[in-house]
Amino acid sequence: MAPIWVPVVLSVALLLFRGSYSSSEGSWCYNEPQCGPNTWLSVGECAGKRQSPINIISAEAIANPSLGAVTLTNYDDSKKLLEIKNTGKTVDIELGDGLYLAGHGLPSSYTAKSFHLHWGNGVSKPGSEHNIDGKRYSMELHIVHTKNNMSVSDAVKDPEGIAVLGFFLEGSEKAKGKTAQAWELFTKNLQKVSEKGEDTDLTSTVSLLDLVGSTDLGHYYRYSGSLTTPKCSEAVIWTVFAKPILVSPKVVAAFPSELHSTDSSSGPQIENNFRPLQKIGERKVEASASLKANSASSFISQPVMLLFFLFITTLASSLPFQRL
Ligand SMILES: *[C@@H]1O[C@H](CO)[C@@H](O)[C@H](O)[C@H]1NC(C)=O
Ligand SMILES: [Zn+2]
Repeated sequence: MAPIWVPVVLSVALLLFRGSYSSSEGSWCYNEPQCGPNTWLSVGECAGKRQSPINIISAEAIANPSLGAVTLTNYDDSKKLLEIKNTGKTVDIELGDGLYLAGHGLPSSYTAKSFHLHWGNGVSKPGSEHNIDGKRYSMELHIVHTKNNMSVSDAVKDPEGIAVLGFFLEGSEKAKGKTAQAWELFTKNLQKVSEKGEDTDLTSTVSLLDLVGSTDLGHYYRYSGSLTTPKCSEAVIWTVFAKPILVSPKVVAAFPSELHSTDSSSGPQIENNFRPLQKIGERKVEASASLKANSASSFISQPVMLLFFLFITTLASSLPFQRL
């Protein structure tokens, strides 16, 4: 007969294993020095050379005429938002099968798996992850896709395994119409998952396309980067749309006020859940065809202005009143 201490040792070992597992999964944070972004550098690929997010400098983005509008298939299906969960760091929405992303520069068809958001604390404290020309928007929506329907755990091992669509949300009193209403409807679900670990099925009448609204799917920046949370896997083809989705300031305020980062409704709010900007390094950001077409006039006029300036100065220096 096995001695009495055998099950005791086994249970202690199991507890220790589970303890270390959960602490390595949940030990990072955004806002405290002992677990904040500076400490992530020792985790996964967080200290790598193609990290996200970045500040996108529009004037330095290289026009790629073959980057047309991305194609979204079945994003208009309101039955695809299956479940919402409070992870303690964000809200994560699980998506049903059959939502696809394709487009130039994406080596394959990508399947949408989930979406989540990043925010600051209300309109006065913006919290998007990417910046455009130094501007931080109120919030950022990330729709996460994997190549050929891979699992996320497999996709992070492939340098092009994940495609994320990033949309900015800007809180504005001017937000009106169908898109603003869709966000108000969606935000009503937050109160059902106010504590960390809570999840609930969605019986939503809102589709991803309703949330994306009238965003021009042809106006975007493209670059290669990483996940913005540990382990910061360098597996992401980023598509960051240039124009923000306008939402009511109440929607922006609801995320930090409804959601808590612990399993207590009196615990700390989830706020400022965005990673600091990373170095762009040797990378180049590309601009889609119609994005650069809009600024083509200023692009063309630069050499024209220079010629005009040279002409005027040459003319001036050759004129007799120079002596005056
Ligand atoms: C995609 O992967 C999911 C999860 O593994 C699976 O349930 C689903 O059937 C797959 N879809 C297709 C179209 O193969
Ligand atoms: Zn994200």
